[in-house]
Amino acid sequence: MTTTKQTVTMTVDGAQYSDDVEPRLLLVQYLRERLGKTGTTVGCDTTNCGACTVLLDGESVKSCTMFAVQADGHEVVTVEGLAQNGELHPVQQAFHEHAALQCGYCTSGMIMQSVSLLNENPHPSQEEIRSGLEGNLCRCTGYQSIVEAVSAAAGEGDTQ
Ligand code: FES
Ligand code: FES
Repeated sequence: MTTTKQTVTMTVDGAQYSDDVEPRLLLVQYLRERLGKTGTTVGCDTTNCGACTVLLDGESVKSCTMFAVQADGHEVVTVEGLAQNGELHPVQQAFHEHAALQCGYCTSGMIMQSVSLLNENPHPSQEEIRSGLEGNLCRCTGYQSIVEAVSAAAGEGDTQ
């Protein structure tokens, strides 16, 4: 049995794409396998880890939880679209400066969730940061360095 493909058109990291996809293709698969945006990772594909987090019209979504066709007509930003003119996004810079990663597997999702968090709440407390990142799992860092990086990116200074 053949599956009817659907055409999806979306903006990803500032460029417009239009492709025929199977309705069952997950957004994260589309980003990684069709567009080659492998900065977005897959840690579980069961909505648990947050590694696949991207922004959809400015709000964070786990891209393993939606189909590519659901992003039709929308704007997606991945970790690969954050840097501008060769300059890291302040959240990326803060993760770098605070060594907020070890293996790096969770990092793109953590950064995208942090960007979304700071868009909604530019000056979060450490408790609010922990709460905002609770859907993103990290096996390596123990989270404290991540919380400090997000706090620094928010201009709250070094909170060690
Ligand atoms: S890969 Fe999407 S939540 Fe884990
Ligand atoms: S840095 Fe390894 S899972 Fe977070």
